[in-house]
Amino acid sequence: MKKLWIACLSMLMVLGLMGCGTDNGKAEEKTPPAKTVAQAANTDAAAAGDKILVAYFSATGNTKQLAENTAKALGADLYEIRPESPYTAEDLNYNDETTRATVEQKNDGFRPSLADKNAPIASYKTIILAYPIWWAQAPRIMDTFVESYDFTGKNMTAICTSGGSDIGSSADYLARITKGKANWKPGKLFSPQAGADEIKAWYNGLGL
Ligand SMILES: Cc1cc2nc3c(=O)[nH]c(=O)nc-3n(C[C@H](O)[C@H](O)[C@H](O)COP(=O)(O)O)c2cc1C
Repeated sequence: MKKLWIACLSMLMVLGLMGCGTDNGKAEEKTPPAKTVAQAANTDAAAAGDKILVAYFSATGNTKQLAENTAKALGADLYEIRPESPYTAEDLNYNDETTRATVEQKNDGFRPSLADKNAPIASYKTIILAYPIWWAQAPRIMDTFVESYDFTGKNMTAICTSGGSDIGSSADYLARITKGKANWKPGKLFSPQAGADEIKAWYNGLGL
């Protein structure tokens, strides 16, 4: 399968595709002091703490499975990146160069619309982007997503699934879009069934 993808990609390059428990007796003792204005102003940053968000796009379920395994392994939350117009099986037929996903990937300026822009980025310190490899890159919807939010000061990294290709330059491409505002760490390709130990070993090695 890997060889097949490498052959396909070479062909495309040739073609020019580049405790709140209540204890009535002691309730008053347990009431936390009211927040100062300064503390309140820092609410977002404090809430973000060490929290991790896995923001994933998946057209056929593989990356969804990886994203879910990752969230479980790291105690992270999940957010699904959904295109306004979902991809049909026909859209995803990479054997036909005229189908939607392939046409979009050939155009690096193409930005498919998002179904919503409600990802709670401000509440998280670390954002893990998860996506399938499409023609050696992240799907264009990931470009749309990265351009739609302010990732200033966030830790960011990427995980992906594929039919055999490695992560390649896909995460570096997304990192460039954030224009150096985020603290990017190396991403990794996983199988959809990656286990908690493998995921934790990768994440712990990032030094976050
Ligand atoms: C349009 C398109 C392009 C693809 N390009 C590649 C590729 O370049 N290399 C590769 O190994 N797999 C490629 N694949 C296979 C997907 O990366 C793989 O099936 C992935 O696990 C799908 O994830 P999903 O189920 O989350 O959508 C491509 C799939 C599609 C639909």
